[in-house]
Amino acid sequence: MANIGGELADGVERDGQLVGPIAFKDAVDVEATPVRPPTEHSAVVSALPARLSNGQQLRCYQGFWVFESWAQGVVAMHRGGLVPRAGDVLLASLPKSGTTWLKALAFATMARRACPPASADHPLRRLNPHDCVPLLERPFATGRDALLDELPSPRLMCTHMPLSLLPATMVDGNSNTKIIYICRDQKDRLISLWHFLKRNGLEDLSLQEVYESICDGTCFAGPVWDHMLGYWRVSKTDPSRLLFLKYEEILQDPANTVRKLAQFVRQPFSDTEEEASIVAEIVKLCSLENLRSQTANRAGIQGMFIKFSHDSYFRKGVAGDWRNHMTREMGERLDSIIRGKLCGSGLTI
Ligand code: A3P
Repeated sequence: MANIGGELADGVERDGQLVGPIAFKDAVDVEATPVRPPTEHSAVVSALPARLSNGQQLRCYQGFWVFESWAQGVVAMHRGGLVPRAGDVLLASLPKSGTTWLKALAFATMARRACPPASADHPLRRLNPHDCVPLLERPFATGRDALLDELPSPRLMCTHMPLSLLPATMVDGNSNTKIIYICRDQKDRLISLWHFLKRNGLEDLSLQEVYESICDGTCFAGPVWDHMLGYWRVSKTDPSRLLFLKYEEILQDPANTVRKLAQFVRQPFSDTEEEASIVAEIVKLCSLENLRSQTANRAGIQGMFIKFSHDSYFRKGVAGDWRNHMTREMGERLDSIIRGKLCGSGLTI
């Protein structure tokens, strides 16, 4: 594989072939992978503070609330369960920040030479973006983390965990892992989360409950400000390792984000690619309209313990929808909490 300055050239070539990340579902055989539930951490988990939040049982591990069903896997991952490889790219987010979109954009960008975005058999035309880019916590939670070792390089993976809960080898100064974080206005994220949970079995969940869980820091993966700040700080001290994106900025100029993303993973678009409008093709392939219309995204479910329908990942895809559901006072209170917590960091959302 091509090697630049001791690092992989992000898997552009393998055995003379152009490659990119391979869709997770195409690369691994989930059923054939041995299951090793991370029970060695059951004592750790049972000693953690617990609470019910938005219909889910959570545990607080190292200052962050995680699903109880994932907690043992999270501990296993945190304690070094994932061995990083040169060329790894990790997407990170709080749920409902635009993760699905980022997965599609990053996958299409990194895989563009092996899978041209306009091709009829592109993986994103037959698979849900979550089947292309694995969420680390899921295989860890079920003891199937060996799947991640089976994934060929360059690996494109995703996490909802805060930076401080990633294996130290992935985040320390010597790590080759490149991380792309996406954040979103918390008011819109809240509304998105509320709709998503209602759509996936919690029909009676009140907006107020979701709202309070975000305000008091007890929602899944929260406190949200600590989640965002952990990634933000590394993006400031080491921008070559961490690219920090905002959902609203991608909405305004998706083509610019695609170029930024390609540059960040050291696969900038060539003049020939620019002339061939590859950037525009990636944007079109990953648009809400296109993804929503794919059969793979209209049917089926995601998840191991908790099941989410594929179609529930695609809703309005706009900025400012909170105004249709929340009062101005609610919006101002949440803004003021977030502003206070981010104060002095330079991060504004
Ligand atoms: P809304 O519920 O506000 O519409 P996540 O992927 O992190 O679960 O986030 C889901 C949110 O991203 C949803 O927001 C969804 O509609 C939006 N989304 C999904 N795909 C998108 C795309 N291709 N373009 C823009 N927004 C997208």
